[in-house]
Amino acid sequence: MIVVASANGDVGIDAAWEVLAGGGSALDAVEAGTRLVEDNPLDHTVGYGGYPNLLGEVELDASIMEGATRRAGTVGGLRGYRAAITVARAVMERLPHVLVAGEGAARLAAEIGLVAEDLLTDAARATWEAGLAGTLAGEGTTADVMLSRVASLATDPERAAGTVNFIAQDGAGHLASAVSTSGWAWKYPGRLGDSPVIGAGNYCDDRYGAAACTGWGELSLRALTARSVVASLAAGASLVGACAAAMHDLATLGIPSADVLMHLVAVDAGGGHHGVTTRSSGATYVWRGDGMSSYEVAPRTVVPV
Ligand code: GLY
Repeated sequence: MIVVASANGDVGIDAAWEVLAGGGSALDAVEAGTRLVEDNPLDHTVGYGGYPNLLGEVELDASIMEGATRRAGTVGGLRGYRAAITVARAVMERLPHVLVAGEGAARLAAEIGLVAEDLLTDAARATWEAGLAGTLAGEGTTADVMLSRVASLATDPERAAGTVNFIAQDGAGHLASAVSTSGWAWKYPGRLGDSPVIGAGNYCDDRYGAAACTGWGELSLRALTARSVVASLAAGASLVGACAAAMHDLATLGIPSADVLMHLVAVDAGGGHHGVTTRSSGATYVWRGDGMSSYEVAPRTVVPV
């Protein structure tokens, strides 16, 4: 058994492990771990306390996938409910759909008994106001400025660190993967990233492995980066080789290499794990396997593109 997460999954990985250790499924494990990150108000890239869009509204994206069947559920632009991963799982298990967005996602959250709340914390609001105060100097306010112009000026202070990934393999050998995010800070309202798109931010297949991304979602949307890793595994690549190939594929998108920002974690069918980044050395992920009393931090391999 194994559970792997992006570094900000450290608050949930031991809980995810306990699910596996208690005989639970990989699907239950990745949901449990992700929920704790969504609850963490100090993580401004996921769930409650996430940074808002240009209008100051927190919009969450999430996806969950099980490797045995490749069933998947995803939500995009969910407002007012922190547990985006649980709503994504409800899409998978209760609806004949894969992706539900916006008001429909919030409706489903209410139908499964989740409690509605304001996800914008004082800290996130203060950063949003401070960020836009500079961006909007001389432009007006978000109410009267053309948001498309602001979107081209805005910057995301935590693009490099945002989003959470969990991948688990349970005692029966089944894989599951989960991704949750509040997306790019100050995004254009309604913007969906890679996290709610199966194949882009998340992919899982018991036969070969699973992969999940953090980073600049528009790039993995264009390259289907998570699916790219699993497709390489299916073609016989090693886990290290499959992850490197997916990163190198991003180099062909016409983006200056200094701007290509992507990180992924992956697990193969044999329970091997690996993490890569296109950026700085010092980037890490966390993992826990059989015989370990707590999680360990592992370095990500830097793959320059
Ligand atoms: N990778 C998360 C996002 O771009 O929204």
